[in-house]
Amino acid sequence: MDNFTFYSPTYFVFGKNEETRAGELVKKFGGSRVLVVFGGSSASKSGLLERVVNSLGEEGLESFTLGGVKPNPRSGLVYEGIDLCRKENVDFVLAVGGGSVIDTAKAIAAGAVYDGDFWDFYSGKRIEEALPVGTVLTISAAGSEGSPDSVITKEDGMFKRGASGDAIRPKFSILNPALTQTLPAYQTACGITDIMAHLMERYMTNTKDVQTTDRMIEGLLLAMIEEGPKAVKEPDDYEARANIMWAGMMAHNNSCGVGRSQDWISHDVEHELSALYDCAHGAGLAVTFPAYLSLAYKHDVARVAQFARRVWGCPEDIDDEEAALMGIESLRQFFKDIGMPSTIGELGGSEADIDKLAHTACYGNGRTGKLCGFVELDEEQIKQVYRNML
Ligand code: NZQ
Ligand code: ZN
Repeated sequence: MDNFTFYSPTYFVFGKNEETRAGELVKKFGGSRVLVVFGGSSASKSGLLERVVNSLGEEGLESFTLGGVKPNPRSGLVYEGIDLCRKENVDFVLAVGGGSVIDTAKAIAAGAVYDGDFWDFYSGKRIEEALPVGTVLTISAAGSEGSPDSVITKEDGMFKRGASGDAIRPKFSILNPALTQTLPAYQTACGITDIMAHLMERYMTNTKDVQTTDRMIEGLLLAMIEEGPKAVKEPDDYEARANIMWAGMMAHNNSCGVGRSQDWISHDVEHELSALYDCAHGAGLAVTFPAYLSLAYKHDVARVAQFARRVWGCPEDIDDEEAALMGIESLRQFFKDIGMPSTIGELGGSEADIDKLAHTACYGNGRTGKLCGFVELDEEQIKQVYRNML
């Protein structure tokens, strides 16, 4: 196991009706003038937004609202939020929504206290300082409620890129699984796929002797394989929603990724798909992960075979190559069964886009030609990953 530092200071509040504590929690973490960031219509339709704003008012806190965050959130609204924070002397940013809303809130929080262009953070500069951020989560997926990351798309060039820093880890996150019961089956499945991808990106490692984190990842994946289809089929299944919600947090706050090298090539490959086609990130991952593993498994057949046997129950008495391929097929079939796409065509793309996708993945926004993780892939090999999606 490699040396590591683990810092995950978010205060989690989990369970039914806990969103009514938003005001109390903002106050606990020092906020008094709060920017509430939200998405399209789901939070206002369900009455959640009103409950949260009321709870801020009950604590005597001043609030300002910024709505309209779209999935695959754009930089334009971030600039708007930064201006609003400065104009109104905002001292706390509260996200009410999913990963797109939370990531927008984090970008605003970092940009509001930075003299330069906030995009610097999405071009490699680490975030050292930010306004405090809190979240009320409405979809189990991105894990942004417990992560130090934010992903934003810059309209100019349509670059979808991530930024990172402990300063944007949420001070608190309210996780009420009941809030996710209004999600359509497709969005639920996208979330499940993303959570599984966050676990698999960590499982595909080159570090030896990491039994503890291997077993944690396998356990969470097995729970998702069991609970995921239940929530897709029965949206009101609170217990399934609850298990998925906590798994989503555990999958991405890095407790399962410490002390080991991680992969993340599938995420880089997928971000090009959701930037170009504006598809859901989870749907893009359902197409990407099997396509990528079909190429990458050869790098360490034994590891992928272990994944296949322990997670997908592939037989012990077949050789590793056969088991690995069987495991990849089981993964592809699972995504299909929960209603996810399996080809680039289903995302709105075609073979004609592959050169552009691979080139932007390898060279866009300052990248230098290779994607590195479990394996090292150059532009030609990345093209092959995209071809595997046809
Ligand atoms: O805008 P509204 O009306 O709220 O609708 C949203 C949106 O259309 C809807 N939704 C959310 N909660 C709902 C609901 N509909 C009904 N009931 C509810 N309770 O769901 C749609 C998708 O929302 P979004 O926030 O985009 O989903 P998700 O949480 O999957 O976030 C995806 C974004 O996170 C990034 C992705 O790249 C993508 O941009 N990621 C962020 C990460 C991070 N910060 O750590 C890591 C991830 O790997 C990922 O890259
Ligand atoms: Zn993801």
